[in-house]
Amino acid sequence: MTDPRPHPRPLLIDCDPGIDDAIALLLAFSMPEALEVTGITTVAGNVSLSSTSRNAMRVRGLAARPEVPVFAGCPRPMLAQPVFADDVHGVDGLGGVSLPGEPGGLAARHGVDALVEQTADRPGLAVVAVGPLTNLAVALVKRPEVARRIETLVVMGGGLAHGNITPAAEFNVFFDPEAARTVVEAGLRPVLVPLDATHGAPVTAAMIDELAACGEGVAPEAAALLRAYHANVGTDRPGAYVHDAMALAVLVWPELFERRPARLQVRTDAGPERGRTLADFASSEPNAEVVVGLDAPAFLARLFERLRGFPRSVPAGHPIPA
Ligand code: RIB
Ligand code: CA
Repeated sequence: MTDPRPHPRPLLIDCDPGIDDAIALLLAFSMPEALEVTGITTVAGNVSLSSTSRNAMRVRGLAARPEVPVFAGCPRPMLAQPVFADDVHGVDGLGGVSLPGEPGGLAARHGVDALVEQTADRPGLAVVAVGPLTNLAVALVKRPEVARRIETLVVMGGGLAHGNITPAAEFNVFFDPEAARTVVEAGLRPVLVPLDATHGAPVTAAMIDELAACGEGVAPEAAALLRAYHANVGTDRPGAYVHDAMALAVLVWPELFERRPARLQVRTDAGPERGRTLADFASSEPNAEVVVGLDAPAFLARLFERLRGFPRSVPAGHPIPA
């Protein structure tokens, strides 16, 4: 039976670039035959909203996709105080790496309104959310019908066995636990890509060196981003985790991932458990599917094949200052 979904599939990416967000954006841009990126909405997270928005435009420029609108969304969590991750992604959010190409400008519409409108205007829209869930939560509060209009929602977030920003909490959820809880409880049945999955596919220094040696297309810049990321997380670690690229891969290469239904809860109470994501795989009332396994070598091989084969926007040597 042919896939009834529209091809290429309409996709909105909600993100906080962030180096792994940038890799996810490049992966999405690398497959125009499969994905129509209808828009990018940005949110405060890894770094400030102004930086995540500028970074989304810089990656768009590298990919030479000026037609894809970037909509700036929420500048802060719903209730929490922002806790940025510039130690991991660099002060500018992209490891200080210069990217060629014209970044272009922001769309006038607020990211929350863009989310509401695109879910109304684009049947079959998929949303991949790889930053704090503030934009999506506010859109759901403003227009609850958004929950019925998103055909597929993939969320990078949560850590079942462990957190990364605290022992209990993963960064995207911890940054805005109230937003994460709003999304989990809205009946969207998201596919959750937690740290338990993303930590299974570290990008090693050898992979980064091989990508850099390729020299084709956006490979030099993608390698520079990943090298900066690996340096920031510690080169003594197995590698850099491309959390957000994995979330995108779950949408386009589902055959590489094992998912199980679960009932998710997000802790919003103050204290050391705040931001913890709980998954009950025995629940008779699941509200999500959780990625519990993957073919990591195949995922990484496909990701790097796409990054190596991606045409660059302008000749090398025309960097835009960080
Ligand atoms: O915990 C990892 C997640 O937090 C990724 O999306 C990363 O970009 C940061 O946003
Ligand atoms: Ca992110």
